[in-house]
Amino acid sequence: MPAPAEAKERHAELSRAIIDARYRYYVLSDPTMPDAEFDALYHELLALEEEHPDLVTPASPSQQVGAPRDTAFPEFRHLEPMLSLDNAFSREELDAWADRVARGLGSDDVRYVCELKIDGVAMSLVYRQGVLEVAATRGDGTTGEDVTPNVLTIGAVPYRLAGDVVPGLIEVRGEVFYPVTDFEKMNEQRVERGEAAFMNPRNATSGTLRQKDPAVTAERPLSMLCHGFGSMEGVAFPSHHAALEWAAGAGLPVAEETRFVGSIDEVWAYIEHWTEHRYDTAYEIDGVVIKVDALAQRTELGNTARAPRWAIAYKMPPVERETILRDIRINVGRTGKVTPYAVLEPVVVGGVTVTNATLSNETQVHLKDVRVGDTVIVRRAGDVIPEVLGPVLSKRPAGAEVWHLPPDCPFCGTELVRPEGEANNFCENVDCPNRLLESLTHMAGRGALDIEGLGYETANALLEYEKVSDLADVFRLTADDLAELPGFADKKITGLLAGIEAAKRQPLDRLLVALNIRHVGPTVAKVIARAFGSLAAIRAASRDDLVEAEGIGPIIADSLASWLENDRNTELLDALTELGVNTEAEQTEAGDALAGMTFVVTGTLEGFNRDEAKAALEGRGAKVVGSVSKRTTAVVVGENAGSKLTKAQDLGVPTLDEAAFVRLLETGELPA
Ligand code: IVH
Repeated sequence: MPAPAEAKERHAELSRAIIDARYRYYVLSDPTMPDAEFDALYHELLALEEEHPDLVTPASPSQQVGAPRDTAFPEFRHLEPMLSLDNAFSREELDAWADRVARGLGSDDVRYVCELKIDGVAMSLVYRQGVLEVAATRGDGTTGEDVTPNVLTIGAVPYRLAGDVVPGLIEVRGEVFYPVTDFEKMNEQRVERGEAAFMNPRNATSGTLRQKDPAVTAERPLSMLCHGFGSMEGVAFPSHHAALEWAAGAGLPVAEETRFVGSIDEVWAYIEHWTEHRYDTAYEIDGVVIKVDALAQRTELGNTARAPRWAIAYKMPPVERETILRDIRINVGRTGKVTPYAVLEPVVVGGVTVTNATLSNETQVHLKDVRVGDTVIVRRAGDVIPEVLGPVLSKRPAGAEVWHLPPDCPFCGTELVRPEGEANNFCENVDCPNRLLESLTHMAGRGALDIEGLGYETANALLEYEKVSDLADVFRLTADDLAELPGFADKKITGLLAGIEAAKRQPLDRLLVALNIRHVGPTVAKVIARAFGSLAAIRAASRDDLVEAEGIGPIIADSLASWLENDRNTELLDALTELGVNTEAEQTEAGDALAGMTFVVTGTLEGFNRDEAKAALEGRGAKVVGSVSKRTTAVVVGENAGSKLTKAQDLGVPTLDEAAFVRLLETGELPA
């Protein structure tokens, strides 16, 4: 029975939206639809086509992969098409896929390879006689763009394959990505310079690969991981895991998180593990890809027009969602920097309900062109502050107006200023109540003086009841002062006073962090404290002395020097010194216990995430690198460690389990 008019109309509508979204995503690198919405539309389209098979025409987006090509780069016709993947969103859908596989094979003797689904840009590398001949994007799946000069700048991609087995020809497929920390650093710098921020690491990757000048690409630290193969001559592999092993031996980058398993329960355990540790990888992931391992079984199962039947992508909850921008307000931070933020219709993003999101500065609001009333795309990945990426222009209400920063600080009425060449505006009034509130909270925070019992609410009460009017006043507080605050009984008072006493004994670097000096965060503060040893020495230093100290650049030196020149800050430092706050650097610094040593951290540790483990080592003077070599002092090995552990064993590099790692941090000694 042909599809009724209503179904046809909806199908046409969905097709248009999907084709447009793909074009924006693949060709323009400027998506305007969150992935989750795309998936929902696509799912609806597939369901309609299943019900009404006459809707499946060659023009349907279900029969096409990717998007039409851009014309700026030479075309490259893939030797074997680059397919896409079908998705599963639940255990039920995963089980249903496994059932289809078993039915298709007439056997449930199936092994799987589980891989992380990297949210990057698909790439095909053609090696002829072991030498990289072409690197091409997926394009429409049949023909992509030849971006070889740009891919040649990626350090992870070998120009020549290593090892004894060099195939006459092989198409290696994988994902190019922008490592998350590098991406965040780059975007911060772009925002500070008043340049447009990249939406997400995938967009940054896509934009970087499309640079006309490979020198620009070379400046950006793209990387790649390989996860599949197309055409090959002169080699054959019985299974996917055997092919991956060959690839690793040939010097191709493969993910250490990949696992070879024998049951769907194990697949599910892998999915659960990585859903929990989603942000512990160097790159962004949006799911897990499960592949039948045996190549003979793959051949038996075959492909549909767009995706193999032998693989499925399990999708994790989206980190980008649409919602309505209700209002734009501004906050004044501890350094006086003005930050506009979005007040949103609450939306669950990356597992958390988001009601506010940063808009960075007025320049970004204008570059992104977001307006009150817009439907906007919000992103929240990992520990990063939720962010508004941009508007969905097709949903903009009539009359939505361009937003402007108010001329005066809403908290103290001081005129806001934008220093020459800056993208940010500032409230320069050091007594601005909001600025003071933020400074106090920051001073009491974990990375600074760590004052137990002095959180946002208490800081607010101290200001409201006029118990403090600058940071030094905290050290003048008495039990009588605190007794006047609502909810402060004996125990709470003693607790806070003890916390303040303890804070006086914190080392100099913590004090420097507490002072709210622009560009002086925990790492820089440690460098300054180590270089000068005491607050008195820092105060006596000229700008030139500051620049000369190792690890302090001109931007930090300028910021610190001008902070020190300000009379109010001089008074503050005098007062803190007089009140008995410690102004000396730590004597018994963990500082250099591990100096000259190089470590690699791999797998999942119980008590540390990757960044914490890295910080603990670096804080003791060690270097932490990404790959194991003969020069590596030791490899710290957590749960589910992969190829780096194997490499360490091959090279005879010592390995440390978590207990040995903790001992190393405490004693500075490596196990015998
Ligand atoms: S296999 C024929 N494995 O996800 C199978 N794809 O949504 C082709 N992707 O086009 C894909 N990580 O660009 C595979 N471990 C992984 C992947 C992966 C990311 C991308 C790939 C693909 C897209 C499908």
